Amino acid sequence: MTSIISVKNLRKTYQHKTVVDNISFDVEEGSLFSFLGPNGAGKSTTINIICTVLNATSGEVIIDGQNVKKHSKDIRKKIGVVYQQNVLDNLLTVSENLRFRASLFGILGKEFEDRLEAVAKELDFQNYLNQPFHTLSGGQKRRVEIARAIFHEPKILLLDEPTTGLDSESRKTVWEIIGKLKKTFGMTIFLTTHYLEEARNSDLITVINKGKIVAAGSAISLQKKYSCDRLLLYPYKEAMNHLIANVKNISLPYTIFDDRLVIENPSVNNVLEILKYDSLIDSFEFFKGNLDDAFINILKQTEDSVL
Ligand SMILES: Nc1ncnc2c1ncn2[C@@H]1O[C@H](COP(=O)(O)OP(=O)(O)OP(=O)(O)O)[C@@H](O)[C@H]1O
Ligand SMILES: [Mg+2]
Repeated sequence: MTSIISVKNLRKTYQHKTVVDNISFDVEEGSLFSFLGPNGAGKSTTINIICTVLNATSGEVIIDGQNVKKHSKDIRKKIGVVYQQNVLDNLLTVSENLRFRASLFGILGKEFEDRLEAVAKELDFQNYLNQPFHTLSGGQKRRVEIARAIFHEPKILLLDEPTTGLDSESRKTVWEIIGKLKKTFGMTIFLTTHYLEEARNSDLITVINKGKIVAAGSAISLQKKYSCDRLLLYPYKEAMNHLIANVKNISLPYTIFDDRLVIENPSVNNVLEILKYDSLIDSFEFFKGNLDDAFINILKQTEDSVL
């Protein structure tokens, strides 16, 4: 594995409050890496340190073999950043905004025109090149913010909650763009999100809570480790105690919730055994554990250790 971003023992403290607490992780070149966490977890702080706009209190970040503190100028050429809030100028048109941005990287004249044409085609925004930024919809704005971030053809694209606040159609579009940038251009994508389902296709998900990394792995491995299947049994009236006695007989842990008996992570045999008592059971439901479950359980299970 070639690590293109390497974060080592990173810490950020404001006065006496530690908001990023000794985190370490690596991002593989060409991969899609999701940094997942609830509000206030430390995602934006970490991304801002990686993209050189914020200094760490201690620890180091190496990008493409270079330390971000010592080589911030070089590194800014290698990365593109889509910030949590849009940063383009509301009063300028899309092409004026991109022209200004490109000039910061010395992309001028014909080179700029050619690149603008290519990016507008890739990201499909030729139709509103001459519209002032403030007149665009939320999804269109994000698309142009991504164009701003990739205009100078960086190796790494960092996106801080790229789809927050967008409707599902626009979120899908942004995801298609991200997928295309990874697949077609081999870009390394680092993104933060609250949405578990969006992180599903990542090569690696790293979960942060209260400044600490609390879990990491593929979507499948996190789901397997932290989510929970549930069998819900609805006994007939008056049959609850009888059903409980039978569940106890087969030594299964259970909880009672209103008129339901809930059995967590039963095996197939457990389910078959319990359902033999059909004379006591009015109906039942089976829920397969999903990624949302996994996320909630990761946060729950790690709460004590990160307080
Ligand atoms: N300049 C600052 N001074 C003091 N505290 C700060 C500062 N910037 C951020 N914090 C605190 O650091 C913590 C982490 O903030 P951060 O913005 O990194 O969280 P986040 O994971 O990006 O959250 P969200 O999902 O809401 O964007 C929060 O408790 C925040 O209040
Ligand atoms: Mg944030």
